[in-house]
Amino acid sequence: MPDLPKHDVADLSLAAQGKTRIDWAERSMPVLRQIRERFEKEKPFTGIRLAACMHVTTETANLMRTLKAGGAELYLCASNPLSTQDDTAAALATEYGVNVFARNGIGVQGYYGHINAALDGQPDYVFDDGCDLVNTLHTSRTELLPNVKGGCEETTTGVIRLRAMAADGALKFPMVAVNDTDTKHMFDNKYGTGQSTLDAIFRATNTLLAGKTVVVAGYGYCGKGVSSRAKGLGANVVITEIDPTKALDATMDGFRVLPMIEAARIGDVFVTVTGNRDVLRAEHFQAMKDGAIFCNSGHFDIEIDVRWLEANAVAKNAKIRHQTDEYVLADGRRLLLLAEGRLVNLGAAEGHPAAVMDMSFSDQALTAEWLAAHHAELRPGVIEVPEEIDKEVARLKLASMGIEIDVLTPVQAEYLTSWQHGS
Ligand SMILES: NC(=O)c1ccc[n+]([C@@H]2O[C@H](COP(=O)([O-])OP(=O)(O)OC[C@H]3O[C@@H](n4cnc5c(N)ncnc54)[C@H](O)[C@@H]3O)[C@@H](O)[C@H]2O)c1
Repeated sequence: MPDLPKHDVADLSLAAQGKTRIDWAERSMPVLRQIRERFEKEKPFTGIRLAACMHVTTETANLMRTLKAGGAELYLCASNPLSTQDDTAAALATEYGVNVFARNGIGVQGYYGHINAALDGQPDYVFDDGCDLVNTLHTSRTELLPNVKGGCEETTTGVIRLRAMAADGALKFPMVAVNDTDTKHMFDNKYGTGQSTLDAIFRATNTLLAGKTVVVAGYGYCGKGVSSRAKGLGANVVITEIDPTKALDATMDGFRVLPMIEAARIGDVFVTVTGNRDVLRAEHFQAMKDGAIFCNSGHFDIEIDVRWLEANAVAKNAKIRHQTDEYVLADGRRLLLLAEGRLVNLGAAEGHPAAVMDMSFSDQALTAEWLAAHHAELRPGVIEVPEEIDKEVARLKLASMGIEIDVLTPVQAEYLTSWQHGS
């Protein structure tokens, strides 16, 4: 097919299925759609080449469509080969004119081969999700650095790596921490994780939450999302915390707060969302009821001490249901671990709904537009997303929901920005 953009995808015949799914995701991405419609008219990326290393999913495909509508020439590779949707990759090449290098399950060598193929596009700007593309640019593709004017980073891990690069004076261009916006945090951690974690528990166990005791470890953004949704379904929610302010917050929100050793005795379902290790461990497993269900929705699979279960259970009924392993202890109690202790909302459900990614990818699209207009004023380093962009994404989301809010009167605006007024 001579007219296709450059690509290395698993199977081009999957393109029609990929397009159907990309269109389905787009229905839940009204903010990005509004931005795409504006980009189509204003073409902010005319003559600009963008290389992106991101999860090749239907939501990312809609970000690519948006940037393409703005006139960009696009090069996309996968930030994690396991999340690549081969049908989406095929559709990006055949339907949307994106140079795409992504195959599900490709090994480490292929992964870096794809990053290099995307960089061969000689990008002016980069999008990263985990910092591997930026890292490759600064180590083995330094000849391309002079052309790169800036970029965006999607995730916490990537921002941490970028800050380390910046502290060493190694980062050669401005990178905007899109991860840190309010709109991303709110939707991704609270609403996204809140809903998809419960979705995963249902898919894995088909348990009824009403009337059950659900123990949520950690009352941060994610813990708030999980606990409020469990409460809404009729569960009695118990919070465990190590931070007194967060524990007080949970108490004042109406939740019972207990140390985990006490919660372990009464919980029917346990969710860890702390970002910390060994939150559920031997002493807790020893105290749990027969039939207790537990899972982790924190980033790494260190929150539940699965190794103890593997070493101490007298029997394991692996995959007693999809993504549910049953461990039988010496006294006959059966404990049920979901998704092997890994991120349960990805392991046993579909991760975040498209409506969640609508927010972070709208932040990405508007930040890219801002970078293209302002790169000359920026210095190398990690940069926060301008507040106006965060507010604009929130405003567009409200508009898509038909919700209007008040506007400051001139007197109010003056009052809020002056110090001369007494009480
Ligand atoms: N599943 C997902 O899709 C998803 C999405 C976003 C974030 N995350 C991950 O979820 C985790 C939590 O994210 P967050 O934004 O809620 O963080 P956060 O910092 O807002 O909240 C974490 C909370 O856990 C508490 N905590 C720490 N150790 C504890 C312990 N031993 N017992 C009880 N509580 C403890 C902290 O005091 C804090 O209040 C992180 O690992 C994050 O990367 C997952």
